[in-house]
Amino acid sequence: MSITTDKPGNVFGKSAEPPPCKLVIFGAGGDLTRRLLLPSLYDLAVAGSLPADFQIIAVDRAEQTGQGWAARLFSLAEQDAKDPSAEFSCPHLDRAVWDKVTANARYLSGDFTQDDVYATLQKLLGGDNVIFYFAVAARFFAGIAASLGKNGLLREDRGYRRLIIEKPFGHDLASARELDDVLRAQAQESQIYRIDHFLGKEANQGIMIARFSNVLFEPIWRREYIDHVQITAAETIGVEQRGAFYEHTGALRDMVPNHLFVLLSLIAMEPPSSLSAEAVRQEKTRLLQAIRPIGEEDYVRGQYGAGEIEGATVPAYHDESGVAPDSQTETFVAMKLFVDNWRWGGVPFYLRTGKRMSGRRTEINVVFKKPPYALFNQDMDDPRNGNVIRFLLDPVRGVSINFDAKQPGLEEVIAPVSSRFLYDDFFRKAPNVGYEALLYDCMSGNQMLFQSAATIEAAWTAIDAIVRPGAPAFYRAGSEGPDEAASLLARDGRSWLPVG
Ligand code: BG6
Repeated sequence: MSITTDKPGNVFGKSAEPPPCKLVIFGAGGDLTRRLLLPSLYDLAVAGSLPADFQIIAVDRAEQTGQGWAARLFSLAEQDAKDPSAEFSCPHLDRAVWDKVTANARYLSGDFTQDDVYATLQKLLGGDNVIFYFAVAARFFAGIAASLGKNGLLREDRGYRRLIIEKPFGHDLASARELDDVLRAQAQESQIYRIDHFLGKEANQGIMIARFSNVLFEPIWRREYIDHVQITAAETIGVEQRGAFYEHTGALRDMVPNHLFVLLSLIAMEPPSSLSAEAVRQEKTRLLQAIRPIGEEDYVRGQYGAGEIEGATVPAYHDESGVAPDSQTETFVAMKLFVDNWRWGGVPFYLRTGKRMSGRRTEINVVFKKPPYALFNQDMDDPRNGNVIRFLLDPVRGVSINFDAKQPGLEEVIAPVSSRFLYDDFFRKAPNVGYEALLYDCMSGNQMLFQSAATIEAAWTAIDAIVRPGAPAFYRAGSEGPDEAASLLARDGRSWLPVG
């Protein structure tokens, strides 16, 4: 669950039931609903943190009944539960709990670009608390928001009315602003919940706790001690069935202004003055606003060619379905950026993300400077020596600290060692697909884990100069990305920590 703000100390675990609400899902037949939304609601029900009086109103085009829709999703959830690679892999899927989530679900078959859907919704919703979840392609966001507004569905006369908007929020700075203008013409900022599932993941939330609930890290969390920071989100999957979407998006827009900048802001933000949504979001925005415009020479775009992943041959990106044979869309990006403030002045942040890389790993490595001189005659240039704090975020979750130790023996031999905390060793493993805290917080009216308009604007501004087409460098599927990404660090006398 998310951080509680009303009690002193660090309270995690089962949280109070939020007030009753209805969840209207636009795009109820889609992949997001099946893979993430319904499983998260199930997890909330298992934890006893779903409102007792809860109802889903599923909206989509296909003709079916609420119970038909729920039954289909249950059978898909059963498949996912057995699949160790699915987000929702869980040892025991409890039918009775699942039924609690979907028992009184209504299915509204219709076209959400047409007015009659909203007239029906009006009748179904009355004066209840309602969350409208936009689980649809981004091109529909503005239209749905405008129709909700026009039909009076966003007026908070009696219950609350909240909108959850998925990413991508805009395609660039100008379109993000346009979308915001539409949303804010219909709703107050307090009603708008811009979601980024990287904010909901347990280990990512843990970064703020590690930094601001301990005195250990903060005094050394600055340019005097830190040499550089590496942020990696490497995936082994390709574009799967999403070629047509990905062609117009690419790795930069898909991952950087949202997910990687979420990680950047968590690792580098100043301590907020409180845990109010406003205070936390302001610090994240300030951090992103301090990013120096990224230079062409500090940016690498790559595209995967054919190769091998976990022993299986996989096709090149341009041979994937929905992708143009001469596509220049990037499936990998790496960049060096600077945060121009007193804490970080001169410290490079290296970011990279890519599909079809050698391993699946999301992590942040905070690499410290070397001691001022080599008292023990150690090799100061050996990258294996020295201090690194690694935030392991996905799929392994924890924190490890690398430092030098004395190798037992008569001579002073220095050996790099590592001390590791893993969530699964310390805490009961609770099913978590990453949306639980976000849905719970939205039901509870807490926007801390959602993006503000200002944060999104700062993120697009930071990459505005590099959002451009061009020929990508190629890398073999199953590798660590193109050579140019390695050169980006090599030219500074540094190297990436290995992915696979
Ligand atoms: C999504 C992107 O937002 O995040 C995908 O659109 C990407 O392309 C995914 O694969 C990564 O998220 P996760 O939780 O699987 O690391």
